[in-house]
Amino acid sequence: MKVLITSALPYANGPLHFGHIAGAYLPGDAYARFQRLRGYEVLYLCGSDEHGVAITLSAEMAGRTPKEHVDLFHQTNQDIFRQLQFSFDHYSRTTWPGHYEMTQEFFRVLQKNGYIEEKTENHLFSEKENRFLADRYVVGTCPKCGYDQARGDECQRCASSYEAIDLKNPRSKLTGSPLVLRPSAHLYLRFDLFKDRLKEWILSKNWKENVVRFAMGYIDDLKPRAITRDSDWGVPVPGYPNKVFYVWFDAPIGYISAAKEWAEKIGQPEKWKEFWLGAETKLVEFIGKDNIPFHAVFFPAMLLGQDLPYKLPDELPANEFYLLEGRQFSKSDNWTIDLQAFFERYSSDQIRYAIAANAPETADSEFSWKDFQMRCNAELLGKLGNFVHRVLVFAHQHCQGKVPPLHPIDDADAAFLEKIALQAELARECYEAFHLRKACQTLMELCQSANAYFDAKKPWALAKDPARHPELTACIAICLHCIKAIALIASPLIPASAQKIWETLGQENLLSEGSWDDILASRLPAGQKLRASEVLFRKVEDAEILEQIEKLGKGVKEEQTVSYEPLKKQINFDQFGEIDLRAALVLKAERVPKSKKLLKLEVDLGFEQRTIVSGIALAYEPEQLVGKKIVVIANLAPAKLMGIESQGMVLAAGGDGRLELPEIQHLPPGSPIR
Ligand code: MF3
Ligand code: ZN
Repeated sequence: MKVLITSALPYANGPLHFGHIAGAYLPGDAYARFQRLRGYEVLYLCGSDEHGVAITLSAEMAGRTPKEHVDLFHQTNQDIFRQLQFSFDHYSRTTWPGHYEMTQEFFRVLQKNGYIEEKTENHLFSEKENRFLADRYVVGTCPKCGYDQARGDECQRCASSYEAIDLKNPRSKLTGSPLVLRPSAHLYLRFDLFKDRLKEWILSKNWKENVVRFAMGYIDDLKPRAITRDSDWGVPVPGYPNKVFYVWFDAPIGYISAAKEWAEKIGQPEKWKEFWLGAETKLVEFIGKDNIPFHAVFFPAMLLGQDLPYKLPDELPANEFYLLEGRQFSKSDNWTIDLQAFFERYSSDQIRYAIAANAPETADSEFSWKDFQMRCNAELLGKLGNFVHRVLVFAHQHCQGKVPPLHPIDDADAAFLEKIALQAELARECYEAFHLRKACQTLMELCQSANAYFDAKKPWALAKDPARHPELTACIAICLHCIKAIALIASPLIPASAQKIWETLGQENLLSEGSWDDILASRLPAGQKLRASEVLFRKVEDAEILEQIEKLGKGVKEEQTVSYEPLKKQINFDQFGEIDLRAALVLKAERVPKSKKLLKLEVDLGFEQRTIVSGIALAYEPEQLVGKKIVVIANLAPAKLMGIESQGMVLAAGGDGRLELPEIQHLPPGSPIR
């Protein structure tokens, strides 16, 4: 069997942070390492996603050309992956000319097969800049609430979403110049024609329930979607000058062109087909949860519309979000960890392990410095490192630094040998099922049992009695056998340390080139020379952790985080008195499907219960809100948001991701606020 593994292609639009690493990357790398040990032919691919409006916009703001911008972050991100010991077989980029050809070929086949249609619609055009502007370049007055700095797709004040052409007084975000409507022809992909095939395919999968539910929701209302944009940065659309493909059309094709580039690199240009077109391939795509619709619906449709029998993903491990000390990573708020500085102090294995041990597999999870310290000190050093060290010290003192014979064996020895085999089997199951957290636990359980076995055998006591020397050496041999299993089980997670441990056992080959089953089944040859024990993990001191926590959120210039809006026009007391503010107890809170920002709240106003839709999802998790007493405008006319009637509005300070709800502590729900 061949295993084709991809991790979502990160945008070359800024340095990757731990949040990304935890979602789509570390799980992919651990899985690739594991499958190689299982003896499969693995192709693990990734690369930079280098197109799209987010990139042209940040490049423009940074005073760089898009090319300079992506060159910079392609390099930065590749360096980060290298430092974290990632084992990609190839790291490509979507500006590779071969990717342009592949994307255009995909399009031509979709067109030939009748899946493309052309439609002319009005779009916002800047006469001053002589170009059409994408939503993100546009600001204007919200058609719903009248906020005059509203964004092109969604109002940050009232959270309603709309089309950019519905904005009143639309302007360019960069130059402030007014925009006019101009017709432009675009190509649409008839996603609606794939409904039945997609449904059948998804239902045949045994995927996580949330992935299936989410995908099915999308499939139900599939419509034709524009796959072209007016821009000069992207893959050119054949026959349409000044148009490029939408970034989510070309980026996933990058998985295929990356395989092609890899095949050329190794001098077997046709070999990519064995992976992408071979019936024997298992395709596993690692993504973060925000990428589910593209990987479970849109890209599969594009593949189904091809003539070649491209593989659809067999597995789609989609992770939840990974936070930092309970909050989303944010560069502008300095709520982040500088990876460069991190690597000066800590090893890549320390961070790999800390992330894996808290991987956001079933719910959002977080990195915290205290947890990092505990993982490093109590687990890696205290359980794993300590066991390896004490066994090697004994082996050097009492076995001439060589692997002793593994007999005679008593019941306790036999039980421990069985435990080793059992934990190895459990670890194998965890890796197969993408459960890194559990793999870490399984590894630590083995280390704990190993320490317990060593303590119970008391080799220091055996050493005092020459008659019991064979028992002592058998115990050491069993412990060395266990260390070998520990190195193996640990290697997908902490490859550098695992290799070091492997070498102290006197092994001369690369552990990563060994075979899982063989390594477990074989014994270390008696008489093999051991090396001296090395320090595997440095202790993380309290002071370092305090210093790191102190740094968070500091050094942010005020003007970056707070922007003062102009004061609104004066009102009199009666006008204020018309607004009915009330304390409302949150009974239930859930995300609004397909919306990043909106939460649907059920609140108790004392005299009645209501549904309120509120744009606070970037700042609050639904669970955090239940039981809080917040402030709402109770006499606002109802409005529909994403098809849900909102019977009131929640008051919040700030805006966007940085927002805070005022809270009532003691008074009951329904209490008026004036
Ligand atoms: N660049 C996207 C992101 O970071 C992921 C692209 S995945 C691909 O969210 F499939 F399009 F490549
Ligand atoms: Zn608005």
